[in-house]
Amino acid sequence: MKILSGIQPSGQLHIGNYFGMMLPMINHMDKGELYAFIVNLHALTTVHDPEGLKRQTLNAAMDFMALGLNPERCVFWVQSDVPEVTELSWILSTITPMGLLERCHSYKDKVAKGIAASHGLFAYPVLMAADILIYQADKVPVGKDQKQHLEVARDIAVKFNNAFGETFVLPEAVIDDNVATVPGIDGQKMSKSYGNTINIFQDAKSLKKSVMAIKTDSTPVEEPKNPDRCNLYNIFKLFAPAERLSEVRDLYLNGGAAYGYIKLELVDILWEFFREPRARRAELSADPGQVKEILRQGAAKAREQAVATLDIVKERVGLRY
Ligand code: ADP
Ligand code: TRP
Repeated sequence: MKILSGIQPSGQLHIGNYFGMMLPMINHMDKGELYAFIVNLHALTTVHDPEGLKRQTLNAAMDFMALGLNPERCVFWVQSDVPEVTELSWILSTITPMGLLERCHSYKDKVAKGIAASHGLFAYPVLMAADILIYQADKVPVGKDQKQHLEVARDIAVKFNNAFGETFVLPEAVIDDNVATVPGIDGQKMSKSYGNTINIFQDAKSLKKSVMAIKTDSTPVEEPKNPDRCNLYNIFKLFAPAERLSEVRDLYLNGGAAYGYIKLELVDILWEFFREPRARRAELSADPGQVKEILRQGAAKAREQAVATLDIVKERVGLRY
């Protein structure tokens, strides 16, 4: 079974990205043949800063590897290193109904947020369909926000198969409803666009600063509090060992939970939790040449599959003459 997912190279990685995206993808290494890639062509729809995009692409690769993605146990590459995908994207766009794209929430949301309504932004789901179909992926683990894009990919595959003969595997979205939405330090969903993140690879001082800034209410220490409504507790529970978590829960329920102490404890827990990834991340950034080489090798493997699919497609649509 082929499992495929892409991630945008989108700046500093936070604990929401870790639980919502990286960890689920890393866990898929054991469940089949994993194809994991960094979607820099998609990022180009919103990032127009060449140096920034280069840096973020490499950083995303290093973050992923530092957190446990093993390039020896999956195919790991950068999207634009397999140019065939843009060729397939064009071919697919010629059979994609406008209405299908016009209905996409993600496009409308991005435009509402002020992102320029370019053709690339509008055609984003077609490129994503090409990403998935060119590798003949069976399963695509994504967040809830990507569900509609997966439906578009399936619709396009069906349309193509009907018009030109069975060519593409119909991909299935894997959406894990148990993946928690991690709250930010202000209680809204953690997101870099809200400036409420706890970043994973930051120094001890700034980590402490962001944890100490977690918003809490003003209930006195000795009074009972509802842990499930407490933003600090909801972050703490993602990292604390089970035994300690149940002690802290009791303190909330029966009185005695002091936010300041719990925050300091959380700083230590987080620092320990990411100790090994931090060390690996430092090793990787000391040798970017090695990371680039790994990505090149990954692209070569991915490309074999992409070329094979595109060959069939070109034959079927009449581009081989
Ligand atoms: P941000 O909101 O910080 O810009 P992105 O939109 O780039 O993050 O999200 C990248 C990935 O991380 C997506 O797959 C998304 O589902 C996941 N993700 C982002 N924030 C959270 C969160 N607070 N909780 C769980 N998953 C998240
Ligand atoms: N659109 C996805 C996101 O923003 C990223 C993506 C691009 C992707 N191509 C993909 C995800 C192919 C899965 C499969 O998260």
